[in-house]
Amino acid sequence: MRRKTVLDLQKMKAENNKIAMITAYDATMAKLVDAAGVDMVLVGDSVGMVVQGLEDTLSVTLDDMVYHGRCVSRGLKNAHLTVDLPFMSYQISPEQALESAGRLVQEGKAQSVKLEGGERSAPAIEKIVNAGIPVVGHIGLTPQSVHTLGGWRVQGRGDAAAEQLIQDAMAIQDAGAFAVVLEMVPAELASEVTAALRIPTIGIGAGVDCDGQVLVCNDLLGFDLGFSPKFLKRYAELQNPIGEAVARYVEEVRNGAFPSSEHSFHRKNPAKKITRLY
Ligand code: KIV
Repeated sequence: MRRKTVLDLQKMKAENNKIAMITAYDATMAKLVDAAGVDMVLVGDSVGMVVQGLEDTLSVTLDDMVYHGRCVSRGLKNAHLTVDLPFMSYQISPEQALESAGRLVQEGKAQSVKLEGGERSAPAIEKIVNAGIPVVGHIGLTPQSVHTLGGWRVQGRGDAAAEQLIQDAMAIQDAGAFAVVLEMVPAELASEVTAALRIPTIGIGAGVDCDGQVLVCNDLLGFDLGFSPKFLKRYAELQNPIGEAVARYVEEVRNGAFPSSEHSFHRKNPAKKITRLY
């Protein structure tokens, strides 16, 4: 097996095969999701919330993304690796965007990079793509603009907003992106965008007609049962079994049931006592 390329992923759209994408932030999870057959792994800047315990993605740094990209890369054999450009690592100029993308590839081992924004991000996308680095766009709810958007809300509901979203999708495609994430947009609009684009759309809260889907690994595995956005389907509820397992461990440490003889090492000749003079 070899890692999937942008050509493989674009062929999947052409052949009507859905793309399954999931986030990961470390090598262990990367190995698990890779073995389970995902096509793409995203080291999202959601690392800020999921791993770092932050409120939003705004404080995640390029160094953070390089570090987690490198970790995830070591766990992958088959899946394509995309790493997010974090807030303020590409907004200043196309040159800054290219420099940051270059770091994600050289040091973070990304095969492609993802950045947020439609028309306004087209010059950055073009610059990065022209340097030979594949780019995934991201429109709809763009978490790095959470303060402008006024919160985590569905985008493109009204006619003007829907038109702008289609224009943004076209601008991203024209700038050379090979795929685009559609986050929290009405299913009907995502369907229209998907039909209009040559490049694959990957939805999160964007309905079934997208060319692929992406979810945050911790969310779909149910690490935090208190987090329940409408678009999330949990395929496991690991919060409870993890909590129960750790509580059992704590109890057994306290009552001496762990470690048992089975989990201990033993001398060859236990009868012989060692006497040391200090
Ligand atoms: O940061 C992230 O995890 C993302 C996905 C939710 C698309 O951008």
